[in-house]
Amino acid sequence: MDQAGNPCTLKDPKVEAVLERLYREARGDELRSGWKLLPYLVQKLLGRKPSMTDQYHRMADLSIPVSAGQGTFAYLTARAIGARRIVEFGTSFGVSTIYFASAIRDNGGGMVIGSEFIESKVERARANILEAGLADAVEIRVSELGSQSVAVGAAFAETNSNIDFYDQDAIMVTGGVFFKW
Ligand SMILES: C[S@@+](CC[C@H](N)C(=O)[O-])C[C@H]1O[C@@H](n2cnc3c(N)ncnc32)[C@H](O)[C@@H]1O
Repeated sequence: MDQAGNPCTLKDPKVEAVLERLYREARGDELRSGWKLLPYLVQKLLGRKPSMTDQYHRMADLSIPVSAGQGTFAYLTARAIGARRIVEFGTSFGVSTIYFASAIRDNGGGMVIGSEFIESKVERARANILEAGLADAVEIRVSELGSQSVAVGAAFAETNSNIDFYDQDAIMVTGGVFFKW
């Protein structure tokens, strides 16, 4: 509960503990990802076409999460519109997903479908979400923005439900379409 007596899953000790640990582990990720990006940028400067997919795989051990402020903003926005069906691309280790799943729970239930194209990250995200006690509101797919986003969107379309909230924290690397309707 928040101070006004509204449900606030972000105050759940399990959720707080997982977010605290994930932010502690991610400290310095931006600097480390900057270093890891250097060879990619050099290739670009030389006029070559380095693979963005390979670059993301080189950064597979980095979380690069939304900040606590951004996450809280996402939570509050999802709460304000009563979102129950959320799609996100770029789940990484699941920080943003935890904010979305918390909002969904406080809105009365629903599902966030997270998508991430690096399998090891998906496994880590699933474990983090389980530890936060939010697994019932989350499905995470090994899926790529563009080539597979229609399939992810269709997961809700099958139930004749709209997507209430779409978050994209990923880059289109192979082309394709987002959603068809
Ligand atoms: C900045 S991180 C996302 C952070 C995450 N939203 C969070 O708050 O923890 C970007 C993630 O998007 C993933 N990604 C990048 N391009 C993608 C694509 N085309 N399809 C799926 N995932 C992608 C990367 O592997 C990386 O884990």
